[in-house]
Amino acid sequence: MYIWRMLQDQITQYTEEINAFDTNNAAELEQFRIRFLGTKGIIKDIFDEFKAVSPEEKRTLGKVLNQFKQLAEAKYQTLNETIADAHGATEGSDLDLTLPGEGFEIGTRHPLAIVRREIIEIFNKLGFSVAEGPEIEDDWHNFSALNFPEEHPARDMQDTFFIKKGGEKGDVALRTHTSSVQVRMMEAGQPPFRALMPGRVYRNEAISARAHCFFHQVEGLYVDEKVSFADLKQTLFYFVQELYGEGTKVRFRPSYFPFTEPSAEMDISCSICKGAGCQMCKGSGWVEILGCGMVDPNVLENCGIDSKKYSGFAFGMGIERIANLKFEIKDLRLFSENDVRFLKQYQSATI
Ligand code: PHE
Repeated sequence: MYIWRMLQDQITQYTEEINAFDTNNAAELEQFRIRFLGTKGIIKDIFDEFKAVSPEEKRTLGKVLNQFKQLAEAKYQTLNETIADAHGATEGSDLDLTLPGEGFEIGTRHPLAIVRREIIEIFNKLGFSVAEGPEIEDDWHNFSALNFPEEHPARDMQDTFFIKKGGEKGDVALRTHTSSVQVRMMEAGQPPFRALMPGRVYRNEAISARAHCFFHQVEGLYVDEKVSFADLKQTLFYFVQELYGEGTKVRFRPSYFPFTEPSAEMDISCSICKGAGCQMCKGSGWVEILGCGMVDPNVLENCGIDSKKYSGFAFGMGIERIANLKFEIKDLRLFSENDVRFLKQYQSATI
């Protein structure tokens, strides 16, 4: 009974003390913790003495004691949080809020993406849309529909990466040009067609400064009634004036592609030396930039288009080549090595 009363008195007294306690000082709070909640603290003492009270008294006093302990703990926790909030971000941590921010670098467009965009924008003005197709192609779309005869040496013109020889649909290969997208487009509808086909193409060549096993093309197709070679020339002439500036000259040399007849290669006056002769044009003043021609009637028929009613032209260029002429990038391998020191140089480039 005596111990019981004594403990009651002590708890009342300490409760008042705890309620009245306030601090914003971490050291003072630590004193408080040691005094009440420490391993040799008041609460531990009271609990030790509590062991001596009678079982009936334990029931009522136990409750009081637990509340008392919770009060001390809650007080400690609240004050600790307030102090941590006030000081925690700076004091006692390595964080220095006065340091200047680090900033982060904005990425840049790849030079090939810059050039591709520019080409697409120019042709957009002439009403060309953009079409895409798969990089893994069957023989029909990459070769046969485009008038490459079976076993014809023309198929060797483009060293092909074959994925599967033979099979139900013939050979399966990585496309060697985006002309395959032209076939897909023509098969899917009826003229007029006016579209660009940008994309990655693959050819089995040893990798060097001047050749790679993949590169990027933009091809174009225009099919409608009465499309002539004059339309082809004017369209490409306009394109070149827009891309390399007014006064850029063009010339067409006869060439051969299985899918166009007649076929031509187009040169422009060298954009580097303006025709005077330099390393880029090997002193000739001219550089080749694309292949083109009138779509062979066989190709139109292969795709279900009446070649008596419709005619069209097609052209194809390598984006690397165009970028090379603009930025004088001598080594093709740089385009795919992802060296940011190289890539960053073109961030504000327009051509
Ligand atoms: N497909 C040809 C190539 O890859 C380019 C081309 C396209 C030529 C359209 C003429 C007409 O070389």
